[in-house]
Amino acid sequence: MVTKEQILEALFPIQEPKMKKSLVELGFVRDIMVKEQAISLTVILTSSDDPLKPTIEQQVHNYLERLGASEIHIRFRAMNEFESEQIEKYGTLNKQEKEATNTSRPQPAAAEYSHLASPESKTQFIAVASGKGGVGKSTVTVNLATALARLGKKVGIIDADIYGFSIPDMMGIEERPAIENEKVIPVEKHGVKVISMGFFVEDNSPVIWRGPMLGKMLRNFFAEIEWGEIDIMLLDLPPGTGDIALDVHQMIPHSKEIIVTTPHATAAFVAARAGAMARHTEHEILGVVENMAYYECAHCGEKEFVFGRGGGGKLAQELHTELLAQIPLRAPDNLPTERNYSPSVYKEDDPIGQMYTDTAKRVIELLQQN
Ligand SMILES: Nc1ncnc2c1ncn2[C@@H]1O[C@H](COP(=O)(O)OP(=O)(O)OP(=O)(O)O)[C@@H](O)[C@H]1O
Ligand SMILES: [Mg+2]
Repeated sequence: MVTKEQILEALFPIQEPKMKKSLVELGFVRDIMVKEQAISLTVILTSSDDPLKPTIEQQVHNYLERLGASEIHIRFRAMNEFESEQIEKYGTLNKQEKEATNTSRPQPAAAEYSHLASPESKTQFIAVASGKGGVGKSTVTVNLATALARLGKKVGIIDADIYGFSIPDMMGIEERPAIENEKVIPVEKHGVKVISMGFFVEDNSPVIWRGPMLGKMLRNFFAEIEWGEIDIMLLDLPPGTGDIALDVHQMIPHSKEIIVTTPHATAAFVAARAGAMARHTEHEILGVVENMAYYECAHCGEKEFVFGRGGGGKLAQELHTELLAQIPLRAPDNLPTERNYSPSVYKEDDPIGQMYTDTAKRVIELLQQN
């Protein structure tokens, strides 16, 4: 049976979005009850109409699930007047605890995990995010990375989808990283340096880790990896606005973002949440990529808008950013027998490869503007 302490430890990474402090540190996680596999608790919100309540709920849920809870009850209530005074005075509702022992676990500064993420670093980070799964984040990540490398940039990919890693497979990477001087050397393909959880699990076995471990793993992807010089680092995020996405936001506060969506109105609507989260964490959104935008008939060239139309444009408008690309629906025509085979990377002379080159050029321009 898990203890109250384990629960608090597990929930520690979740931040109260407005105060940007851990919910646990603020004392906003209360009334924890554990009964066999069931966990119930209360989360205090700064206001009863907090728009980020569903996000917080999802995160708490995810972390508790990873602790092995099969029944989860999360209640919410707004902070009362007394509590709001306490927060103002002490910055936490755990005043007594805070006086006795310092329960806060400071987030290490970015510089501590890597020179790459330190403010002096020249590396520019772009997180590739989406609201929904399966819209093509990873496909966009590998192709944008390859295109940026073709344009002469030193490019890296961190496959931050720790559970659902797919980058090695999509790029056709079969080797494992080498280790030199106790540092892991990223695997390079098409001029892109790659690190992924996929390199460290045996036989595609599932990754089962508790919340805090995920953050640690992600940090290792910065600290324990010999990246060398990197101009642009792309981070392939897991879908949605879950805890890994939040960890990334916290670890690399200056990261930019690209949001991927399909043209379907619902996908764009859900993607808007990822956009809202980026804005909330002050990550600048470089633009939107609409993937699977249409299907173009190989014979007559007619376009069919199989997943609907306009989602990407509408989302870009909503997020006050630009529509970077509309990538049609078609798999790369690569053959497993060819040299340097990658199942998901379009070749430079493929029309879709060209679209990615154009997108990469625009991304470079946008990065230079700030
Ligand atoms: N433009 C496209 N045309 C055809 N197939 C595509 C296209 N984009 C992506 N796909 C395919 O759709 C599937 C989902 O794409 P991908 O894995 O890139 O999405 P994702 O958003 O990273 O998914 P997840 O949320 O699971 O990480 C993959 O099989 C991929 O090969
Ligand atoms: Mg993916």
